[in-house]
Amino acid sequence: MTAQVGTAVPFLDLAAQQAEVAHEVLPVWEELLTSAGFIGGEQVDEFEREYAEYVGVRFCIGVGNGTDAIELALRATGIGPGDEVIIPVNTFIATAEAVSRIGAVPVFVDVDPEYLLIDPHAVEGAITPRTRAIVPVHLYGQTAPMDALRPIAERHGVVLLEDAAQSQGASSTAGRAGALGRVAATSFYPGKNLGAAGDAGAVLTDDAAVAEFVRNLGAHGSSVKYVHDRVGMNSRLDAVQAAVLRAKLRRLDAWNAARRAAADRYTELLADLPGVRVPVARPGNTDVWHLYVVQVDDRDRVHRELGEAGIGAAIHYPTPVHLTGAYRDLGYRAGQFPVAERAAGRILSLPMFPHLTGDHQRAVVAALAVATGSTR
Ligand SMILES: Cc1ncc(COP(=O)(O)O)c(C=O)c1O
Repeated sequence: MTAQVGTAVPFLDLAAQQAEVAHEVLPVWEELLTSAGFIGGEQVDEFEREYAEYVGVRFCIGVGNGTDAIELALRATGIGPGDEVIIPVNTFIATAEAVSRIGAVPVFVDVDPEYLLIDPHAVEGAITPRTRAIVPVHLYGQTAPMDALRPIAERHGVVLLEDAAQSQGASSTAGRAGALGRVAATSFYPGKNLGAAGDAGAVLTDDAAVAEFVRNLGAHGSSVKYVHDRVGMNSRLDAVQAAVLRAKLRRLDAWNAARRAAADRYTELLADLPGVRVPVARPGNTDVWHLYVVQVDDRDRVHRELGEAGIGAAIHYPTPVHLTGAYRDLGYRAGQFPVAERAAGRILSLPMFPHLTGDHQRAVVAALAVATGSTR
């Protein structure tokens, strides 16, 4: 049966966010067009200072995107060709790509069944003499179990590098996402909780040497113009993006609070639907609900029927990284990471954004009730 509901609900409404900040951003953009100060400058410096302070680290280095941020953080902490880097299979492929791009080897591990975050027991089991780093991903808006991972990293003398792309503003009892490891990488892709108007990212750290290395690498291996210390890359935050990020950073806590309220409302509305498993926040963790991911049987049909009813749902992610064509050569098989593999067939991300209304959510839940055959 096809779900029938009246209200169309987009998966994400970015226009509402831009509308809120436009009056602050446009005058800055006009000034930038006049001065032509597009690369670096005051907007970038100020954003880096403000975001470092927000996260609670000494250094924030703006870069071109989140994938570059992971690559730069890996290189700056001494990871290189042949080194093994442990990452969860339930993540966006960029986490693995960054490892592969520097010639290091991604070593995949499963996630826990409750939160679908990297499983510390699996990490312990995957350590070898060649392991040089662990990259937990703060997926869907909540922090990975850093308290369990930190002692493992310390015992084996390996780098703990956070992929904080989906967790701007999230925190655990130990601090904010981005301040919980030796170094962190984040993405400001437009759909993130803190999103730019194009590609952007940042590296975060308390370590002055790592910060200096990232800045140098991202500017063609150069700290003084035309003096190149090493082979680097071009990965910088643009001034126009920094202006957007500054305006949105001022609203991030309020927007995250709106996401939390929406998550609570979904959880309440979905309590009557036995066929829908709702996500839960890890104890001691402030979830910023980048995504609200339910689990259902017969997911592909449910997804299709929601689409037919005008509800924009999505899947994060349909294929665990070890089973993608990109990583076929590493020789992993289906069945090796049963938790992530089973979840990949059941997960469904419902519309989630700060400006989502109660009416939107009731329409989503009504369509879901029909599609899952739950009576309400
Ligand atoms: C978990 C995760 N890691 C890394 C990235 C890569 O970020 P970007 O798209 O800015 O390169 C993303 C987002 O796209 C992500 O969700």
